Amino acid sequence: MALDDHIERVIFTEQQISERVSELGSEITRDCIGTPTVVVGVATGAILFLADIVRNIPLPITVEIIRVESYGSGTVSNGHPTISSDLKTDVQGCHVMLVEDIVDTGSTMSCLIEYMKSKGASSVSVCTLLDKPARRKVHFKPVGEKGKYYCGFECPDEFVVGYGMDYAEVYRNLPYVGVLKPEIYKR
Ligand code: PRP
Ligand code: MN
Ligand code: MG
Repeated sequence: MALDDHIERVIFTEQQISERVSELGSEITRDCIGTPTVVVGVATGAILFLADIVRNIPLPITVEIIRVESYGSGTVSNGHPTISSDLKTDVQGCHVMLVEDIVDTGSTMSCLIEYMKSKGASSVSVCTLLDKPARRKVHFKPVGEKGKYYCGFECPDEFVVGYGMDYAEVYRNLPYVGVLKPEIYKR
C-alpha cells in the first residue's frame, strides 16, 4: 500500500502550503529586518516547515533546532513537553522565532516560550503552520515588543498528518497535510 493510500482526505495541498509559506516569509522578513533573529524549529514536526520558511526569509538569520515531544506514539498529548535535544546557540539578548508545525493544546509553545525567556531572549515570536484553536488548554503570548504570532492556517479539530506531522512517527514525509483513514488507527 502506497503512503497516499493511507490518507482519507487532503486538508492542505502542497500548493496551498507553498503559497502561504511564501506570504508568511514576506511578513516575517518585513518585521525582522535589522533585528538579529534566531529561528528555532521545533523538531521533529517542524522540520519541513522550517526548511521552507527560512528559504523565504532572505535576512542574515541563525537557524536552530530544539527537540520537544509530548505525544509519543498516540494521538493525545501527555501534557508534559520534554526537551530531548537542546539549542547549541546562546539566545541571550536575541529575538527568537519559534517555528512549529501545529499548535494544539498549546503546552509545547507555552513551555518553549518560558524556556526562551529563561535563556534571556529579548523577545519571542511564534510562527506555526497550523493552529487548532478548538483544542487549546494552555494560553500563551509572544514576548516583548518584537514578539508576534504568525499562523498559516486554522486547522479543523481532526488528527492531521504530513508535512512534518506524524502518527506513531510515520507520515512526516507527505508533502501535504491530510487525515488518515480510520482503519489505520485501529491496527
Ligand atoms: C506535536 C506537534 C507540536 C505539538 C503540538 O509534537 O509537532 O510540537 O505536538 O501540541 P500541543 O500544542 O498540544 O503541545 P509531538 O509532541 O508529537 O512531537 P513531534 O514533533 O516529534 O511529533
Ligand atoms: Mn512537535
Ligand atoms: Mg508527534
